[in-house]
Amino acid sequence: MGHVILAGMMGSGKTTVGRIISHNTARDFIDTDHLIEKQAGMSIFEIITMKGEDYFRKVEKDVILSLSPGSPSVISTGGGAVMDDDVFLFLKRIGKTVYLKASPDTLYKRTANIEVRPLLKEGNRLHIIQELLHKREFRYLESDIVIESDNISPNEIAEKIIMRLQL
Ligand code: S3P
Repeated sequence: MGHVILAGMMGSGKTTVGRIISHNTARDFIDTDHLIEKQAGMSIFEIITMKGEDYFRKVEKDVILSLSPGSPSVISTGGGAVMDDDVFLFLKRIGKTVYLKASPDTLYKRTANIEVRPLLKEGNRLHIIQELLHKREFRYLESDIVIESDNISPNEIAEKIIMRLQL
């Protein structure tokens, strides 16, 4: 079945849940933001604030399109990555995509540390989250499975995914 690919907004729990699935299924864990930081030699925050979001999206696309289809892993993607059609189609080809669905209120609570989230820095954070979710959700919903993540622990979410995908 290939990789397990987690998609969804910032604060949806992709990294936390991804690490648990990786641990419980003995698959490697890959965080695309982390790969981007390694490739660029800068933090995501620095890339976006110093070089701009368009540059960040280019590096993000390059990094994801060069992921290997081999050794089934758990991959956590940055919240905006799947909005690029090529990226989304590629991810669908190399594994099963999972949308971690969370309400704006939940996302708001989970993104309190805006220091590492440049896109949420300017303006009203709840409004930005609502707008981004509104723009992006059609794509997230094209994932192979959708898991509600409000009011449920990361461990429970991970277990649900493991069951649904029969990992
Ligand atoms: C982004 C989400 C971030 C990171 C970057 C842009 C987005 O990743 O890729 O700050 O556009 O939603 P997480 O979703 O892992 O926080």
